[in-house]
Amino acid sequence: MKKRVTTATLRAMKERGERIVMLTAYDATFARLLDQADIDVLLVGDSVGMVVQGHTSTLPVTMDEMVYHCRSVVRGRGEAGRAHVVCDMPFMSYQAGSDEALRNAGRLLKEGAAESVKLEGGEAIVPIVRRLVDSGIPVMGHLGLTPQSVHQLGGWRVQGKSADDARRLVRDAKMLEEAGAYSIVLETIPAELAARVTDSVGIPTIGIGAGVDTDGQVLVIYDLLGLNPDFTPKFLKRYANVGEDIMAACETYRNEVRSREFPSKEYSY
Ligand code: KIV
Repeated sequence: MKKRVTTATLRAMKERGERIVMLTAYDATFARLLDQADIDVLLVGDSVGMVVQGHTSTLPVTMDEMVYHCRSVVRGRGEAGRAHVVCDMPFMSYQAGSDEALRNAGRLLKEGAAESVKLEGGEAIVPIVRRLVDSGIPVMGHLGLTPQSVHQLGGWRVQGKSADDARRLVRDAKMLEEAGAYSIVLETIPAELAARVTDSVGIPTIGIGAGVDTDGQVLVIYDLLGLNPDFTPKFLKRYANVGEDIMAACETYRNEVRSREFPSKEYSY
């Protein structure tokens, strides 16, 4: 049996200079495949709201939905699986205060079987991070382009470009580390700033659109597989064209049903 990746494993990987590989997963089938592919961390991202549910932002995603998806991912990863499962706390499940945040993070661990939770934000959420960590819940931070604040940020823009914003981001990262976060996602920030943050903290940073010098990388699995051809940000490398494969397979099936070629004798009892 492979040894499960823990928050301590991730810290040790940073210390050894080994890259951390993270991908999102939302269901049992993908979780099983990604774990078999030796992906270190499965993020049950609230990006589920966009890539699975078809919303234009992550804001509508609910706690019940995150619990459901997390439970499915943990089931697919399996008891013998290696990957660590971290689950996003959805919008407004933690921002209103640390009591509610603790109750909701607790649900993700108890009902969703997550092994840690991820929260977006810097200084404003530091007391909440501390409360969760003090209660035994490992917390991953998320800085830079924080999708739950998309309206405040004025869109899906590169963050941390001005000297002041960059300084604030480095300070936020240090505050999250100080509050007990075990890792931080850095989303859509200049590569140079991501390298600076990575050097400034002892905990691993995991980048998306943040260049090569973070301690790990994360992508949304649907984007990596080419299931969403209209989404073409600069940072996204597509490793497959599964969307085209699905269309081709379904068109062949359609033609074969219409022509009565399927099911042939071979597929009949
Ligand atoms: O929800 C998500 O998928 C994320 C990643 C983009 C980091 O937070």
